[in-house]
Amino acid sequence: LAKVEVALGNIPEGKNIIVKWRGKPVFIRHRTPAEIHEANEVNVASLRDPQTDDQRVKMPEWLVMVGICTHLGCVPIGESGDYGGWFCPCHGSHYDISGRIRKGPAPLNLEIPEYEFIDNNEKVVI
Ligand code: FES
Repeated sequence: LAKVEVALGNIPEGKNIIVKWRGKPVFIRHRTPAEIHEANEVNVASLRDPQTDDQRVKMPEWLVMVGICTHLGCVPIGESGDYGGWFCPCHGSHYDISGRIRKGPAPLNLEIPEYEFIDNNEKVVI
């Protein structure tokens, strides 16, 4: 299956990029220390789809997710919504800075694809 290689050096802290992977958008966010802290402060037991931030990342600075809303498949918008993460405008699902569903109709967190870091963590292969 086709793999996509993404150089991480071009993504400044606090920014998102979107790459295409098997016809789907994948979001890559270079998270700030404050965002990582926020992602870890959440009471996991209160979540609809309970996952710790650690379960969703390989390196805390880098969040890599399939950019498809788990409700009916729209593409959420970055840096928006009530939880500092993504907002799906189709029916109003709010995802946090770990891509976890926090409000709205989506049943699950944004999916994490298989990926790995290569070249001294300078690139990610999805
Ligand atoms: Fe995202 Fe419905 S498709 S909220």
